[in-house]
This record gives sequence, C-alpha cells and structure tokens, in this order.
Amino acid sequence: MSYTIAGTGYALPKRVVTNGQLSEIVDTSNEWIITRTGIEERRVLTDESLTELALQAAKMAMANAKIKSTEIDLIICATIRSDTITPSLACTIAEHIGCTAPAFDVNAACVGLIYAMEIADSFMASGKAKNVLILTAEAMSKLVDWTDRSTCVLFGDGAGAVVLQPGRSRLACSMQSAANNGSILMPNTEGENSPFNKHKQDKMVVQMDGGEVYKFAVSAFAKRSEEVCAMAGIVPTEIDWILPHQANLRIIDAALKKMGVHKERALTNIHKYGNMSATSIMVLLAEEIERGRFKRGDKLLLVSFGAGLTSGALLIEY
Ligand code: UT7
Repeated sequence: MSYTIAGTGYALPKRVVTNGQLSEIVDTSNEWIITRTGIEERRVLTDESLTELALQAAKMAMANAKIKSTEIDLIICATIRSDTITPSLACTIAEHIGCTAPAFDVNAACVGLIYAMEIADSFMASGKAKNVLILTAEAMSKLVDWTDRSTCVLFGDGAGAVVLQPGRSRLACSMQSAANNGSILMPNTEGENSPFNKHKQDKMVVQMDGGEVYKFAVSAFAKRSEEVCAMAGIVPTEIDWILPHQANLRIIDAALKKMGVHKERALTNIHKYGNMSATSIMVLLAEEIERGRFKRGDKLLLVSFGAGLTSGALLIEY
C-alpha cells in the first residue's frame, strides 16, 4: 500500500518583484537574469508571514481533498527555516487547523518535498498513518544577501501543500546526499549571544558556488531520474510529465538532453516565481493539477537537487 494525491494547495506572497526592480538594487539586468536562468519575476514576503502562507496552502489542500483536520494522522513540513525555530512550522499549522496529530519539520532544502513524501510513505506502509498533510514553505527572501547579485536574483518565497491518502500512486523513489564541499552554505548565527563564544561568525545568508552546484544539479537530476525509471521498469521517454526543481531553465534542458527526453515533457513556472527551494515542485504540481494538465494514470517524475547536497527523484502514477 502506498499513497495517492488526494488534494493540493498553494499560496504565494502578493508582492511581485521583477528583474527590472532588482537591477535598481544590484548590478544586474533583465537580460542577464532571463538568459542565464529563465526567471522573469519572483514573489517576496512583505506584510504576510510564512506561517500565513502555509496555512492558506494547507486549507486549500484539505478542501480539495475533502478532508477535515481531525482526520489527519501526520503533518510534515519541508522548510529550511520557518518563522520560529521552535515550535516547528508543522506544529504551528497543526495548532491553527485544530489537529493534534504528530507534526514535525524536515530540512532537505530543495529536495524537501520528495524526502517528506518518502517519510509519509513509510508511515502509511507501516499502518501508522492513513491521511498525511505535507507542507512546503520557504521564505528565501529572508535568507539571501540582497547585496550579492549572484544569489539574490535567483530565489523567491511561497508555500504549498498536499494531502496523501492510501492508494497505489508511488512507483519508485531514489534519494541521496552528497558531499557539500562548501558549494551551498548558510551559517546559522541566530542567537550567537553566548558570552563564552568569541568566534567571529559568518553572515547568516545563502552563499553558493553557482558553477559547482550547476554541474552537480545536471548530473544528479539525470542520475536520480534514470534510477527511478530502472526501478519501475520503464525508460525515461515513457514519463508523461516531468516536474523538475525550478533552479535554472538551463539545468532542466541540459539534464533532459542527457536523458534523451524532449524538453516539452518538462513543466516549469520558474519565470513567475524563481527558485522557491522545497516549495518549487509543490506549487508547480498544485498549479498543474488545478489547470487539469494530468490524466489519471499519467506517469509523473518529480526530481530535485539542492543544498546538502541533496538530490532525489520520485516517480508516481497520477
Ligand atoms: O536550488 C539550489 C540549487 N541551485 C542551483 O541549482 C543553482 C545552480 N547554478 C546556476 O544556476 C548558475 O550557475 C547561476 C545562475 C547561479 C550563475 O550562472 P552562470 O552562467 O554559472 O554564471 P557565472 O556564475 O559563471 O557568472 C558569469 C558572469 C560573472 O561575471 P565574469 O566573472 O564573467 O565577469 C558573474 O560575476 O556573470 C556575472 N554575474 C552576474 N551578472 C549580472 C553573476 N550574477 C550576475 C547577475 N547579473 N545577477
């Protein structure tokens, strides 16, 4: 027994920030950002909190799944950093929706949704949970250095949610963590106020060696995807739709070329939202379900890579 997708939801900040607006803050241009990444604009939190977005997404997913909060047996939230270190965002949402099921956060950066879905699958397979609410929520605008043009133009904020119920959708999954070697790092210097600690701390912002991560991303994308296809006994060209992590259109194109898959199979929303870490694939999935893109039985590949360095691919039958 595995799961089926019973309902999805998403929520985005109201504030749209265009490439043109960023070029007034850092030395960049609309042309550079579009040609190097495919991003045209992103959403950025202003007066909303990440918790509010996650709550909106959770309510939408529960309404679409026609499920009450008291019927949920487990809540998992994929996030790098929620509004509070404790309680976890999953616990905060549980309280808001009136649910007392176990709730916890998972930090697997951009691969968080796939990790969370695998954890949910284990709980469901062992009979410990029947209805699972998975959330993804990222406030990347609070984590980037707004003076660093090599990172601040890439990211955006958002939240998503999916309700999983017993079914037979999961076909195969492959997840990995590889040596980070400093390629994506964000030191946690919050609360470094101990009088006994005299070490000078780095700035608490995302630092990334873009070129190194690019090479890792293309290779991990293709490898994890080919692994899940082999596990499920299909070839990559049999996948109906690919929902890749939205970090860079060039990464998606290069990985698909490696796999011999036509790029029309890949769905994208990077132009509107940039890279929303764990939330990118979740929002993409929810939007595409909303617009009726998939037929029952379609094979969907969710594939992601990111800080850790983590990577993962999940093949499901819609
Ligand atoms: O979700 C986590 C996973 N993250 C990723 O997967 C990101 C992977 N990496 C990438 O997507 C790409 O490496 C980037 C989009 C981050 C950078 O693209 P690139 O083609 O690798 O550019 P680059 O870093 O090699 O930089 C090329 C040039 C440099 O100038 P010089 O040294 O050639 O004079 C940079 O200083 O572009 C410059 N540059 C910019 N110019 C204008 C870097 N950022 C900008 C910018 N605007 N925003």
